Amino acid sequence: MNNFEKIVSRNNGWVYLEDLVDYKKLGKGSDGSIFQLTPEKCIKIFEKEETCRTELLAYQAGKTSSVIPTLYEYGRNYIVIEYINGPSLRHYLKKENQLSESTAQKLLIMLDEFKRIGFTRLDTQIRHIFVNEVREIKVIDHKRAFNRKTNIPVRLLKDLNKIGYLDEFLKYVKIFRPSLYKEWKDLTD
Ligand SMILES: Nc1ncnc2c1ncn2[C@@H]1O[C@H](COP(=O)(O)OP(=O)(O)O)[C@@H](O)[C@H]1O
Ligand SMILES: [Mg+2]
Repeated sequence: MNNFEKIVSRNNGWVYLEDLVDYKKLGKGSDGSIFQLTPEKCIKIFEKEETCRTELLAYQAGKTSSVIPTLYEYGRNYIVIEYINGPSLRHYLKKENQLSESTAQKLLIMLDEFKRIGFTRLDTQIRHIFVNEVREIKVIDHKRAFNRKTNIPVRLLKDLNKIGYLDEFLKYVKIFRPSLYKEWKDLTD
């Protein structure tokens, strides 16, 4: 049994921050802390059990989608999900120095996927989008997936505007999804 399995079996479904002092901390947000468990897996420990349940539902809904990290296991206050080895979309765009046609297509597919798997919030913040080693888009932090109803990705468009890539993105939206373009083009004026 590896160390992590020992921790889980000892604590009856709970994992505490003190249990993870030997693991690399990947990040912390307002709801949880993330530690790397293995080269493929990381754990998100939630401050509140309820947030864990809400986010878990989203990961379960997203099981068939490649834009949602794989869910491996979970307990009362944690989920174990796929570790994403790669930059955030913001850093990726900065490095590429453009928002390519391929990236625009991937973002449109990401939004289609949110709808297909039943999320009611068809939106995300740019800091929750990552690009992995094989240039797939992976989105994290899904606690709001069902508790908001949004058909237009206002947040994503605003974030892209802030970092100077909205016009490039909309240029491709106009070509590939003209009906969405009509709905979105005036939002950030
Ligand atoms: N699957 C993951 N792979 C790599 N890093 C991650 C992963 N999940 C979260 N992180 C890191 O942890 C940070 C916080 O995660 P997040 O889920 O947004 O927490 P919170 O719900 O508290 O906002 C992220 O910004 C990211 O840097
Ligand atoms: Mg977050």
